[in-house]
Amino acid sequence: MKILVVGGGGREHAVIKKLSETKIKPELYAVPGNGGIAKIAECFKDIKATDTEKIVGLTKREKFDMVFVASDDPLSLGLVDEIEKTGVRAFGPSKAAAEIEWSKVFSKNLMKKYNIPTADYASFDSYESAADYIKGDINFPVWLKTDGLALGKGALRAENTDKALNILKYIMLDKTFGDSGNKIVIEEELTGQEITVLAFCDGKTVKPMVSSQDHKRAFDGDEGENTGGMGTFSPSAIYTPEIADWCMNNIYIPTIKAMQKEGRKYKGVIYFGLILTDTGVKVIEYNARFGDPEAQVVLPRLKTDFLDIINAVIDERLDEIEIEWQDNAAVCVILASNGYPGKYKTGFEITGLEEFEKDGEFALYHAGTVIDDNDGKIKTSGGRVLGVTATGKDLPDAIKKVYGVINHVSFEGMFYRRDIGVK
Ligand code: AMP
Ligand code: GLY
Repeated sequence: MKILVVGGGGREHAVIKKLSETKIKPELYAVPGNGGIAKIAECFKDIKATDTEKIVGLTKREKFDMVFVASDDPLSLGLVDEIEKTGVRAFGPSKAAAEIEWSKVFSKNLMKKYNIPTADYASFDSYESAADYIKGDINFPVWLKTDGLALGKGALRAENTDKALNILKYIMLDKTFGDSGNKIVIEEELTGQEITVLAFCDGKTVKPMVSSQDHKRAFDGDEGENTGGMGTFSPSAIYTPEIADWCMNNIYIPTIKAMQKEGRKYKGVIYFGLILTDTGVKVIEYNARFGDPEAQVVLPRLKTDFLDIINAVIDERLDEIEIEWQDNAAVCVILASNGYPGKYKTGFEITGLEEFEKDGEFALYHAGTVIDDNDGKIKTSGGRVLGVTATGKDLPDAIKKVYGVINHVSFEGMFYRRDIGVK
């Protein structure tokens, strides 16, 4: 069986590693992949994850049996629909279903229409109407969000009218996020701890995975800018069985039913970004895929054969399988390039990688790495470079282990948070 995974970050490395451990042991391929993925899958590194036409051509030529679309941009471009048209099996939501992530206006309107708890909001498609709203009688702080995808940077906080007007200009007039900012959502601020719950979904049945929590800020103590995620842990201690039950009945099932009613059958992995407020759990955001770096702590805990679940999703018989998880904990710490999430340099050699390949309790997931064609060495190529995951009997055990091994790896400008899992 030949499987192509589309994407090239730590999440895709975690997906591919898990696929390599299934009983069928499929032949694995990646577009574009990265320096670590290249060890277990053949990478087509010159093809971009967003080049739908080339990926469809490659799928036909290489006769892949399945294409797993793991990252947001190709999902928003309808890659799953295009692969299915060729008769090849695809894992991931259709373009229409993935709109739950690629349009904030769509997802907010969906939640409002179906009474799914979320922050109060208003949406606008012109600078003038949004500016009038901001100058009116509203409570601060508010969050301004681009309608479209913006590499996790499209949500900005404003504590007063001037700041809000500046952000509005930055998004809608300066077009800092391009067409993603053609429409905007302005919403009330919610306070509480954030939890991620990923779930498998086959259009009718939804099966939540174990919970996790992400650390979005760049520095210790939640200081610094928002990033794509600096580290994760699983499970979340605050996500109790009672809360899980409540979310199942009030968020997960209603969301899947809502998508069915809208004629957008949701198949794949759905990401529920939740916040535990004083007045209950609310949805901060949906994503149409595994989180990165949430996948790096959730997938290592999965006991059931990953491919069995993927096939059950595609064939719409998820109700027939039992999904089992290890009764342990996992922590992932991201090693990033100095300057991230702003400007940073790349091309530095990474040393100490071989230390990791020995120990089964650890996984080293590559994100921004490449194999240098000139000298065959693994070099940095992105802001988030590597993710080190350790599993342990409980969270303190996993934390101790992960911080005990990080120093094996190094590259110029490497930085990481020292408090992952502590909250
Ligand atoms: P989003 O792009 O919607 O996922 O937002 C990114 C991050 O911004 C979230 O994970 C939160 O940490 C923060 N955020 C977004 N919206 C709100 C809100 N209404 N209240 C508080 N924090 C928010
Ligand atoms: N870690 C957040 C995300 O994947 O969107």
